[in-house]
Amino acid sequence: MIISQQNHKITYLYLEPTNKCNLDCTYCNRADIVKKTKDISLEDWNMVLDKFSSQPVNEAKLMGHGEPFLHPDFHQLCRRFKEVFPSAFVISATNCQYKLNNNFIEALPYIDLLYLSVDGYKESYEKNRSGAKWSRLIEFLDDLLNIDAGKTRITINYVVHGGNYKDIEKIHDMVSKKYNYIEEVRLNIAQWWGEDEEIQEDYTDDFYRTVIKYKENVKGKTPWTYSDCYWPKTGFYMNVNGDVKICCLNTSTNPIGNIFESSLHDILQSPKLQKIAEECRLDAPGIHCRKCDYKRLSPILEYIYNS
Ligand SMILES: C[S@@+](CC[C@H](N)C(=O)[O-])C[C@H]1O[C@@H](n2cnc3c(N)ncnc32)[C@H](O)[C@@H]1O
Ligand code: SF4
Ligand code: SF4
Repeated sequence: MIISQQNHKITYLYLEPTNKCNLDCTYCNRADIVKKTKDISLEDWNMVLDKFSSQPVNEAKLMGHGEPFLHPDFHQLCRRFKEVFPSAFVISATNCQYKLNNNFIEALPYIDLLYLSVDGYKESYEKNRSGAKWSRLIEFLDDLLNIDAGKTRITINYVVHGGNYKDIEKIHDMVSKKYNYIEEVRLNIAQWWGEDEEIQEDYTDDFYRTVIKYKENVKGKTPWTYSDCYWPKTGFYMNVNGDVKICCLNTSTNPIGNIFESSLHDILQSPKLQKIAEECRLDAPGIHCRKCDYKRLSPILEYIYNS
């Protein structure tokens, strides 16, 4: 079944403002993906937003394979986004590994939900977030105590894997004792965002016991199968170069087009996109989706939620 142009409405945008980063986290596939670093220009950003202005966008992630707040004008990108899509729910994330600055403060009013990426405590944090300093994180979190975040919700996003699950409790305790502006410690079981490889993680009984204790904070959908995937139907993923991929779960795949150079209409007619949409609809994944971590994690999440 070909998705017709009238039916193909984009409600979810994932836009990468920069691919520059000051860290090299062990579970992030950025090092495999990013060859040349770049900040998106305001001109390109505006051009992209214009191309979506007639779409019913209701949610967006302004992030990608980089640290968004290292874009010197990130606050302007966020403001512009909200001007074009005032009712869209905007999510961004930060690694907190810089001195809290005006770029951050001025971006906050245009972000509905901000993830502070903290996954580990002291040693495990520094080990898994290579280049990060625990002391720099604490300084950032302390500085945030003195900022009025307005309506912006702030949560911790904790990527859970075998090397850091034991520290979930410590982060919970730290947040509840010291940082009351953080509404939750979200737990995301680590995924792999490439086409060819998979995470070879042997989840131990102790891993499950620990995560199950915090299952209310575990994020993810289950049961889930390919026909549940919204990405080829209503999602849109763009990197800083304007290259369009199908989704954020497979960022190593070849782009289906370039939104800086082509119209949205032409990109949505890509044969690769149409093929993947059809394979998902039939629950018959091809190369692009075979190793999708939504699928791998579905039974794992089911076990966690039902335990
Ligand atoms: C790719 S980062 C970009 C923003 C910023 N650099 C940061 O780390 O917060 C966005 C979010 O994805 C999370 N993340 C990175 N690699 C992941 C993985 N393999 N599985 C699940 N989440 C991951 C990060 O911890 C972060 O909260
Ligand atoms: S800070 Fe974010 S973008 Fe940078 S390597 Fe870590 S997870 Fe990836
Ligand atoms: S890899 Fe395929 S199934 Fe998984 S999120 Fe992407 S499009 Fe959907």
